[in-house]
Amino acid sequence: MIERILPDGVVAAELFDDPADVELFPEEEAHIAEAVDKRRREFTSGRHCARTALAKLGFPHVPVPPGERGSPIWPPGVVGSITHCAGYRAAAVSLDVLSVGIDAEPYLPLPPGVLDAISLREERVMLAALGGDLHWDRVLFSAKESVYKAWFPLARRWLNFEDALIRIDGDGAFAASLLVSGPSVDGRMLTGFAGRWTVAGGIIATSVTVPRDPG
Ligand SMILES: CC(C)(COP(=O)(O)OP(=O)(O)OC[C@H]1O[C@@H](n2cnc3c(N)ncnc32)[C@H](O)[C@@H]1OP(=O)(O)O)[C@@H](O)C(=O)NCCC(=O)NCCS
Repeated sequence: MIERILPDGVVAAELFDDPADVELFPEEEAHIAEAVDKRRREFTSGRHCARTALAKLGFPHVPVPPGERGSPIWPPGVVGSITHCAGYRAAAVSLDVLSVGIDAEPYLPLPPGVLDAISLREERVMLAALGGDLHWDRVLFSAKESVYKAWFPLARRWLNFEDALIRIDGDGAFAASLLVSGPSVDGRMLTGFAGRWTVAGGIIATSVTVPRDPG
């Protein structure tokens, strides 16, 4: 499902359960040596997706250890993102775009209190206006997670939930406007992101990509 919300030049791999016998590199294993089984399974399957996606770009079997603040360390020249939730794991990678972020969530309403904690008033007004029976609060949350995953490798700093204003289109697109100054990327200031969302099989997935300046 994730590929349908990724642009040309970004490839992905996904899993709906955890394969047995996936081996980790020592530097990956070190990161989860003390982890509980659930964490070990999501981390390991995420690495399996990452290597499967990298193989589509022609990369050999390489480690993808967690780096600064959990951001995966990709081979030189590659950008990418990993997500996992109950029943779903995915990775997306690219040699063409400047950054990519993906997120998947169970397609359920957010738990009580979470929407107020992660949204701006203007976003809550937008959600109310979108109407219908979709879980727009979960779409918003996932969009913000994707934004953070695309932001971090470029900015190398934290981004609060109130630091980006999301506008969701009912047709599967969204836009994020940064309310804090962004990094200079490819000779321009990063001011926002374009993203896409989709729902299938009880999962919502979102993606954000930062394209190169076409010149
Ligand atoms: C890091 C975070 C985005 C992960 O999202 P999540 O929905 O909890 O979990 P997911 O399974 O979708 O993603 C986890 C993966 O994200 C990736 N990730 C973690 N930290 C990251 C970072 N700083 N930058 C990029 N990717 C990161 C990792 O690959 C991780 O999987 P792994 O540890 O197995 O390698 C989230 O926990 C978080 O800290 N959010 C707060 C920041 C935020 O969202 N701000 C909103 C800005 S508008």
